[in-house]
Amino acid sequence: MTRIDSPGVPSGSISLTLVLIAVAYLFGSTLPAGCSANNCPSPCTCTWSKVDCSSKSQASLPDTLPRYMTDLMLNNNTLKNIPPGTFDIFDHLEHLELNDNPWHCDCNIAYMRSWMIKNENREQFKRVKCSSPEPLRGRVIMYLQPEELSAYCELFNCKYLNMSQGSLYFTVIFHGSLIMTVNISTLYLKIFNVIIGLARLKLTVP
Ligand SMILES: *[C@@H]1O[C@H](CO)[C@@H](O)[C@H](O)[C@H]1NC(C)=O
Repeated sequence: MTRIDSPGVPSGSISLTLVLIAVAYLFGSTLPAGCSANNCPSPCTCTWSKVDCSSKSQASLPDTLPRYMTDLMLNNNTLKNIPPGTFDIFDHLEHLELNDNPWHCDCNIAYMRSWMIKNENREQFKRVKCSSPEPLRGRVIMYLQPEELSAYCELFNCKYLNMSQGSLYFTVIFHGSLIMTVNISTLYLKIFNVIIGLARLKLTVP
């Protein structure tokens, strides 16, 4: 019986290589979390860390965007706003396409504007423009002044005013009832004193 061992390549290193390939394969298929076909948000298409949601008539962002995406295409949809904080969890997001959406430029667009300004590659946002309100139509969002945005925040201001008015009423009623409680207690004390006085009087009178 003849055994032929290939010199210099111990069988151990071959199985180690196989194990490494298996690990790499498993790792590779789970690493681009959310970028493999099974958790690509509908109706977008995903290629590795790139998520393409462009031209899908979307009025809002998909609920679950992959955490590790580097590119997000949202151009040519019907987006009016990006909710504040939306992009904060995507640490690797660099390339973002927001062109050709009917962006509504009031104070709610301030988050998106500041995100674009802070981005290293802000050149990519030179074509992201307001669609409404009419006086800001066609303006590049990045170049708007904060005052221009706050001029279109009536709704927000109303809400805020209502809230502060509500808390004012509450404070007035609360204080009013406190004062009444104190007054009533003082009254009771006075009555109590009178009763005690009368009782004393009765006791001392033989
Ligand atoms: C924009 O999206 C619509 C569908 O929502 C599509 O029909 C149209 O061709 C797209 N336009 C461009 C310029 O990609």
